[in-house]
Order: sequence, then structure tokens, then C-alpha cells
Amino acid sequence: MTRNLIFIGILTLLFAAGIWQDGTVAQDTKIPALSELNEDEKNTEKVSLGARTWIIPTPVWVIGSYDKEEKPNVMTSSWVGISCSKPASLMTCLREATYTHGNIIERKAFTVNIASESYAPYAAYIGRVSGRDVNKFETTGLTPVKSALVDAPYIKEFPLVIECKLTQTVELGLHTMFIGEIMDIKADRSILSEEGAPDIEKLKPFVFTPGSSKFYGIGKLIGNVSDLAKEAEKK
Ligand SMILES: Cc1cc2nc3c(=O)[nH]c(=O)nc-3n(C[C@H](O)[C@H](O)[C@H](O)COP(=O)(O)O)c2cc1C
Repeated sequence: MTRNLIFIGILTLLFAAGIWQDGTVAQDTKIPALSELNEDEKNTEKVSLGARTWIIPTPVWVIGSYDKEEKPNVMTSSWVGISCSKPASLMTCLREATYTHGNIIERKAFTVNIASESYAPYAAYIGRVSGRDVNKFETTGLTPVKSALVDAPYIKEFPLVIECKLTQTVELGLHTMFIGEIMDIKADRSILSEEGAPDIEKLKPFVFTPGSSKFYGIGKLIGNVSDLAKEAEKK
């Protein structure tokens, strides 16, 4: 009887201390109510935002094209990206309603023009009016240059320009994906690094935030990818 009481006592003590089965202190598995969380803890809870295009950030590209009458046009596009390394290709996704959409189908070519921060107002304007109604080169004073490689104009004042030949279109729904093979990249010497590649700190590109519809500059250098990867391995 006494031995039984001692055994039950020891079990009760172990249980009270949270030591059970695997010999470790049991974790408190109680999920705290939202009202019990401090601000930092609340932020770890993910909130569903729905099926939207709020991918933060996106690049800001200006797409150059000619219409049937050789009128040069430009439009801003942020639904964009690199799409293949070999052949070097990129994509821009445009609504059929844009003037540029018909131009690219017609001429099978387009350019991508990347602006420095100082040209942000131009990229904003070019993304708000249509070449169907105005000649955006005339209204902005930007200079169209005829590409020698593809049937599309590029913007002289923008420091980084990519000349593309249309290779594929993919109908996605509201947007058509235009895939262009990169025939050449042209850059102002002033934005090149010593190794001859575009230098982000010299180019000073900016990005777009879908949802809040703002442009932001690029922040400070975080590190090169191989060094950062090594750092993570140590942790
Ligand atoms: C930052 C920004 C990004 C945009 N991205 C796209 C895009 O990727 N696809 C699209 O169809 N329209 C986009 N637009 C809207 C077009 O640029 C706009 O409809 C433009 O007037 C079309 O010009 P166009 O009719 O001369 O081709 C964007 C506008 C802004 C301001």
C-alpha cells in the first residue's frame, strides 16, 4: 500500500514537472488567442489576401514598338521577366486593349527600355496614356531611335535597351504573354561596371509595387549570392 502511494506520488511529480514519456519537458501546445499576442507575434500569422497580382516588387520596363504607319510608341509594363537563358529571352504580358499589343503582333518585334530614377515621371506618364490617342515621343520629348536589328524603336535617353524579336505569344486571359528573343542589349557606357556589365548602382533602376501603385528606388547591396549562401549553411 505504502509502495503504491509512493509510486503514484512520483508519477504525479513527474507529470506536474512536464516530464513524460521521452524524458523532455513537454512544450506548451496551447495556441494563444490573437488578443494575447504582442505586435511581433501577431505579425507571424499569415493573412490571406486572395488571388491577386500583389507580387512585390515588379520591374518597370518601357516597351517600344511601331504601328502600321511607322509611328513609334512606348508603353510601361511591369508584368515582365526573363524567360529563358538559351536562347536569351524575356517576356512581357500585355492586355489586348493596349495599342502596343497590336503593334507587336503586326511588326513581330519590340524593345525593352529601362529607365534610371530620374526618368520615373516618364515611365508613369507612358503607362497612363495610349499611343492610339497621342504620340508619346512628341508629348514627352523623348527621342525614338530605329533599331538596326529588330523592327521596333528604342528610347535614346534610357540607359539600358534590349532589342527583341517576337518568338511566341501565349494567350493567358486578360493578358497575352509576348516572348521575345534578345538580339542585343545596348547600354550607355556611363552605367557599365569595370567588367563591362550593367551596374545597378550606376543605372539606378526603380521598381513598381502592384496594389499600392508606387515606384521605389533600389536599396543598398546585401551581398553576393555565393557568400550569402555560405552564411546560411553555418546557421
Ligand atoms: C507601372 C505600370 C505598369 C504597367 N504594366 C502593364 C503591363 O504589364 N501590362 C499591361 O497591359 N498594361 C500595363 N500598364 C498599363 C499600360 O502601360 C497602359 O495601359 C498604357 O496606356 C498602354 O499604352 P499603349 O496603348 O500606348 O500601348 C502599366 C502601367 C503602369 C503605370
